[in-house]
Amino acid sequence: MTSSIPNSQALFDRGIDVLIEGVSSASRGPAAFGTTPRYMSHGKGTHLYDVDGNEYIDWMMAFGALPMGHAHPAIVETVTNEVARGTHFATALEVEVEVAEILCDLLPHVEKVRFANTGTEAAMAAFRLSRGLTGRRKILKFEGHYHGWSDSVLLNSNPQAPTALGHKNSPIRIPDSSGILEESWLDTLVAPWNDFEALERVMATHGKEIACVVTEGVMSNMGVILPKDGYLMRMQELCKEHGALFYLDETVTGFRLAAGGCAEIYGLTPDIVTYGKALGGGFPMACIGGPDHIMEGLEWGKVLHFGTHNAGRLPLHVTKTMLTTMLADNKANFKLIADLGQKMTAEIQSIAKSNNKHGMICQGLNSMFQIFFTDKDEITDYRDFCGHVNRIKFRDFALKLFDKGIYMNPGATLHSLSSIVHTDEEIAITAKAIAEVLDEMPA
Ligand SMILES: Cc1ncc(COP(=O)(O)O)c(C=O)c1O
Repeated sequence: MTSSIPNSQALFDRGIDVLIEGVSSASRGPAAFGTTPRYMSHGKGTHLYDVDGNEYIDWMMAFGALPMGHAHPAIVETVTNEVARGTHFATALEVEVEVAEILCDLLPHVEKVRFANTGTEAAMAAFRLSRGLTGRRKILKFEGHYHGWSDSVLLNSNPQAPTALGHKNSPIRIPDSSGILEESWLDTLVAPWNDFEALERVMATHGKEIACVVTEGVMSNMGVILPKDGYLMRMQELCKEHGALFYLDETVTGFRLAAGGCAEIYGLTPDIVTYGKALGGGFPMACIGGPDHIMEGLEWGKVLHFGTHNAGRLPLHVTKTMLTTMLADNKANFKLIADLGQKMTAEIQSIAKSNNKHGMICQGLNSMFQIFFTDKDEITDYRDFCGHVNRIKFRDFALKLFDKGIYMNPGATLHSLSSIVHTDEEIAITAKAIAEVLDEMPA
């Protein structure tokens, strides 16, 4: 049965007059939904409630910003206590030092941090820092990776027709937006990811000109794609050999896949790392981190990073609550969130095995998973995704799930996530809904 959404429709009709596409980011509106988005009124635990009174088990969790779910009592208490003491001072703060201490104790590759608000801002500072420190111009990024919407790296992040990509040895660089001057990305090199040979080639040719090589640890902006064995380590070694900085963008994976993110899982020691999303526990919070000899580049504005809202006191208090809750009892909640995500992934994989008229597969790691409709057994890189993933089918599937009370973002490039408050029962309900939708969908 299709759920009734007259109030969402009325808001969309009003919104479209005063907001671009009726929303504030393309992934929330008709560009991703192909139809009227559902306007949400509130969230509690794993549940989102829309303005029409429909209820959803949320597997999007604000794109990973909510490892503890919606309105977690510890976070509500923190905000309630702190908001009455002032929202933002833009001064030095005790909580700023406390959170930085937690991060530097937890992350072996981080001796100092600098707080920012969003993943995009942290990445911008990281790119400037890498260029400032090395005196080099070039950045190497990978196809299908996203590091925020700043000009110099907004290339080859969106899916394209396979014929538009060029040869993998020299990918055609495709800006993801109009309005980006060519000069801003001329020094950004693009290579296919998960391809040892391509990596060796580009480093052999350009390694000495590269300020930093930036990578997602697990490819998160084309669903979930894991790095091949030893790939990230080889990237780190090649950076060392060529004097380029190894920049691991953990905006998605940090405080999400493991307490120490992909650096912990794959045994990496990046020169620069950025975090965002989960770090803020639902509030805007991001940071850049690294060893002293790298981070000192930001001292006295040698490499400049400013921001009125940097280190906001409310977000920092929430970050402190999130970190202490997740790290308590020997990081028990990191284990819990991973177990729940793995269970959901396994359930979906088993449905895919028993009912595969649609060619559905599910890939995941710990709390992250994504469903692909594809003719392949596995999606291993961006080119696979562009050539073999049926995005329209995923969108239709996700929209049908809405009607069964399950919320996953209809964008096929975006992944789903568990939180510490998801339950086995909700996993079973979600699995049942997925099986029903697959039955109902035309082959
Ligand atoms: C890997 C990665 N880096 C950076 C960003 C940008 O973060 P934000 O949206 O907070 O600016 C994102 C956002 O999805 C991301 O996935």
